Amino acid sequence: FAPRAGAQASAQPFGSRPLAADPPVGQKFTRPLPRLTDAGIMAQTRLAGPLTLTARVEKYPLIEGYNSDIWNYSGSVDGRAVANPLLIARRGQDIDVTLVNRLGADTTIHWHGLVVDEANDGSGLHPVAHDARRRYRLRVHNRAGLYWYHAHPHFRTGEQIHQGLYGPLLVEDDEELALRKRLGLPWGERDLPLVIADKQVGRLNTIKYKMGADDWIGNRMIVNWAAEPYLDAVPGLYRFRLLNVSNARMFRLAFLHQGKPLPMRLIGTDGGLLERPWRLADAYFAPASRLDVLVDFAGLPDGERVMLASLAYEPMENDAGAAPEDPMLEHPGATPMGQALELMQIRIAGKTVKSPALPARLSTLAAPNADGATLRKFRLYVGEHGRWLINDWNMHLTGHAPAFEVRRGAREIWEIANDMRSMPHPIHVHGVQFRVISREGSPPQIVERAVADGGIGAQDLGLSDTVVVWPGERVRILIDFAQPFTGKQVYMLHCHNLEHEDQGMMASFAVVDGDEKKSA
Ligand code: C2O
Ligand code: CU
Repeated sequence: FAPRAGAQASAQPFGSRPLAADPPVGQKFTRPLPRLTDAGIMAQTRLAGPLTLTARVEKYPLIEGYNSDIWNYSGSVDGRAVANPLLIARRGQDIDVTLVNRLGADTTIHWHGLVVDEANDGSGLHPVAHDARRRYRLRVHNRAGLYWYHAHPHFRTGEQIHQGLYGPLLVEDDEELALRKRLGLPWGERDLPLVIADKQVGRLNTIKYKMGADDWIGNRMIVNWAAEPYLDAVPGLYRFRLLNVSNARMFRLAFLHQGKPLPMRLIGTDGGLLERPWRLADAYFAPASRLDVLVDFAGLPDGERVMLASLAYEPMENDAGAAPEDPMLEHPGATPMGQALELMQIRIAGKTVKSPALPARLSTLAAPNADGATLRKFRLYVGEHGRWLINDWNMHLTGHAPAFEVRRGAREIWEIANDMRSMPHPIHVHGVQFRVISREGSPPQIVERAVADGGIGAQDLGLSDTVVVWPGERVRILIDFAQPFTGKQVYMLHCHNLEHEDQGMMASFAVVDGDEKKSA
């Protein structure tokens, strides 16, 4: 795909300067956050019958007044055209989605966070070629929560996600609907998904991606497909369900009022509700992860402004676990990732709307049960060849064959040690939701945030599918492989910094029935 120029752009001065040096076109906070509607991009689509989604390239005004080529999943629902729809499903229901590929390159639909069998997982192990199709049929076993779907072809995931191949998937269940009723926040108005991405937007608003780059960091902040939008809000309680679809950027999110963070209440993470709300001033927000937060604007005067921002933060240099020969000590990615950014302006107007009382208890999670769990160790580091490795695995170097096997029904503790001194890795495991049980050797910024035994923070207290392993840390996660499937299922384990992933920081593993087990 050669980038084509946007349609109506002409007033923008440009000449022979290199593309990379051109300032992006457009102003910030001049465009409202797109409303949730039933058609167009991120259209709300309740999954009922079969749905066909075609991966293709279309024009879309990512920045007001200019059309960009977006790669999306397009479909038609009751005669309405939808693209990258916000899919809504109920726990226990079946999903039947057929992918038709018109991209000109292999692609897939991966159901990020869902407990799903290999054939329907949509990883790079099952690519769908140009002009081919694949039907994904899966039962939603997960709790209510915000999950997502995205392209996952081997070694091209960074490019395809950056160009737009993703969407949110909201799972509902009785508990979630009861909470919604109790909070009484109208869906789509005061209870909103915010899908956040940083994108490199070049001259004429082409989305730029360079294959083989490290840590692709964007220059525009895209929220629900609008660059730096604004949201008109009443002085009252809001619920934001945040999803970070950035390739590599770690945010430190806060709602700033007069430069100071308003308290937010974290009520859920990747795999749904926490047991109780946690009060936070700001939250680290890694690629692929989700945060469900309540923020109360009650009492703010008419005309006030709040900024959804990412606070600057220091790269977390940490010698604790680092190998002395660590070649990534001076990793340049740490700095732009930790830069201060403005994502969305919130314009308060009107009179205070009384806030409902928050329930003290949101949900009940079974306590992590490590009885009989076996310990498996993983080490994240850079090899002499300059490749990112998980143990001695790198998919470019060691191939696609499963690196290890897990017995179905087993509980395992995975200890993931980040031996790089300056770079966090958001590690994602397919096919399961897990619990974070301890953090050791954490940088001081993370130690400060610990709220529970084992050095874990509020963000670690729910079910997760992606866990950040900060520089020098050893993080233990507990995975229960009691999956409702039989037979050998091969899954991926990888860094969700997409450039790391595409450079092979990925391994596959097999979940096998007891009698198929070959090794301990
Ligand atoms: Cu969100 Cu293996 O991916
Ligand atoms: Cu990584």
